[in-house]
Amino acid sequence: MTSRVRTFDQSIAVALCPAVLTLAVLLPSACEKSQSTAQPVAAKAAATPAEDPVIAGAVARLNAKQAPLSAVAELGKKIFFDPSLSGSGKMSCASCHSPEHAYAPDNALAVQIGGADMKSQGIRAVPSLTYLERTPAFSIGPDQKPDDDEDQAKVAAAVALRNARQTAGVKIGSVVKADVAAGNTSNAKTEELVPQGGMDWDGRAATLPDQAGGPLLDPREMANRNGFELMAKLKAASYSKDMELLFGPGVFTTPNLALGEAYFALARFQIEDRSFHPYDSKFDYYLAGKVQLSAEEARGNKLFDDPKKGNCASCHLDKPSKDGKLGPAFTDYQFEALGAPRNMAIPANRNPHFHDEGLCGPLRTDMAKQRNYCGLFKTPGLRNVATRQVFFHNGVFRSLEDAVRFYVERETKPEKWYPRGKDGKVVPYDDLPPSHRANVDLADAPFDRKRGDTPALDEGEIRDLVAFLKTLTDGYAK
Ligand code: HEC
Ligand code: HEC
Repeated sequence: MTSRVRTFDQSIAVALCPAVLTLAVLLPSACEKSQSTAQPVAAKAAATPAEDPVIAGAVARLNAKQAPLSAVAELGKKIFFDPSLSGSGKMSCASCHSPEHAYAPDNALAVQIGGADMKSQGIRAVPSLTYLERTPAFSIGPDQKPDDDEDQAKVAAAVALRNARQTAGVKIGSVVKADVAAGNTSNAKTEELVPQGGMDWDGRAATLPDQAGGPLLDPREMANRNGFELMAKLKAASYSKDMELLFGPGVFTTPNLALGEAYFALARFQIEDRSFHPYDSKFDYYLAGKVQLSAEEARGNKLFDDPKKGNCASCHLDKPSKDGKLGPAFTDYQFEALGAPRNMAIPANRNPHFHDEGLCGPLRTDMAKQRNYCGLFKTPGLRNVATRQVFFHNGVFRSLEDAVRFYVERETKPEKWYPRGKDGKVVPYDDLPPSHRANVDLADAPFDRKRGDTPALDEGEIRDLVAFLKTLTDGYAK
């Protein structure tokens, strides 16, 4: 840890702090400094549009210049694009996380192909790597929405502290957002603890640096057999001298050391390089007061927020922090079971006994006994979602319209989304074993309707919502 702080350029931390919460955790003192200099802007409440903190914050994000990458992040960039680190010699991080596609795949496969022979297939859709920089470390704790809070750095610090103390096996359940929104605190389970944050669809990698080992050692992905093999590849790479310069000549003495620093460098690249969080979508220009939404997009935005219609914003938070400094991330970083239909395009699903149940496994192993977690997946941010070709953790939906339609028709027209069993009856939530189907969220709109009811959104409204989601694609003015 000490080497990390030493090699990390503090001036960059200060430049990035307003936009990058993770740094607040790494370097609290540097961040406090930068926040206090920005304080006067936040203090003057909306006197003129130019002084409105939300507008000022959005303008500041649009105008922000890319600070030079630190040496560690430069190293991370080389590692990110290096195919020699894979078992096949053909695959780098960028093969699945393409920079031209919001760091998601450039193809429409539900799951990607990898492995030493480039013939294995994974079990999950590849997420975009954009806007992960503020994801809190995985924790099980009180329900609090980080983006709502006044002081982000304090929340992050509290979460980090709780993580450190957290012991597994505490009782929790998924939160009923409707109760929280209605201020119904007795039902809102204010003392109840909810899983939140972390990397991957199941949050099993607590933080960004923890995540990198996953793909590099996964036999279906970059397929290194073990840490020694990976360390040998790092040592043979063109940047091995950089690693020795940055982390000391002993860096290649143990895989723990070498791999830990390589993962740290990958995370620094993703945190520092603005291409991972440019905040320059049409929606950001709209927040900055530089462009209007079209009538269709504005209607979509309203439906997205309306608790009785889309109700999307109850999980995909779309407001900037009150001081305007943090742009909306379109996620509350919490976990929900939405009951996505089984995707038979995934080879593993040919085995009827195989179930990907997110938080409770099988990829994640520490919560296997928490039955109330079965079927829960992390709420993804929706920025750049319109550039994706497959949706949800298993890539079962192939258009954004279908993903939205599923929300409003899952309960009202289940026969459209789920297959029929031998008895001719529809099998709702067919991707989960029968005993875990009760975990699926029925309380939050738009799921709170019954079979045959009118869906919460009609086809025209679905079009409006999709038009709004398209305003979240980065590079609007380019
Ligand atoms: C074969 C395709 C593939 C390759 C190569 C790959 N990834 Fe991924 N990546 C995935 C998949 C699939 C997931 C989701 C995994 C899960 O939920 O279990 C993922 C998830 C992630 C996440 C978490 C995102 C989130 O929303 O929580 C990060 C960060 C990430 N990858 C970074 C990397 C890095 C860094 C590399 C290179 C060392 C890399 N990936 C290589 C397929 C890939
Ligand atoms: C109760 C919380 C909740 C609500 C309400 C909600 N979502 Fe989601 N959303 C999630 C979760 C959790 C996932 C991931 C589920 C999975 O993969 O199994 C998700 C996934 C998505 C995806 C796929 C993203 C991707 O990268 O594949 C889209 C699109 C989406 N939501 C849009 C919406 C829209 C539009 C609404 C409103 C109609 C909405 N969501 C309401 C929690 C929610």
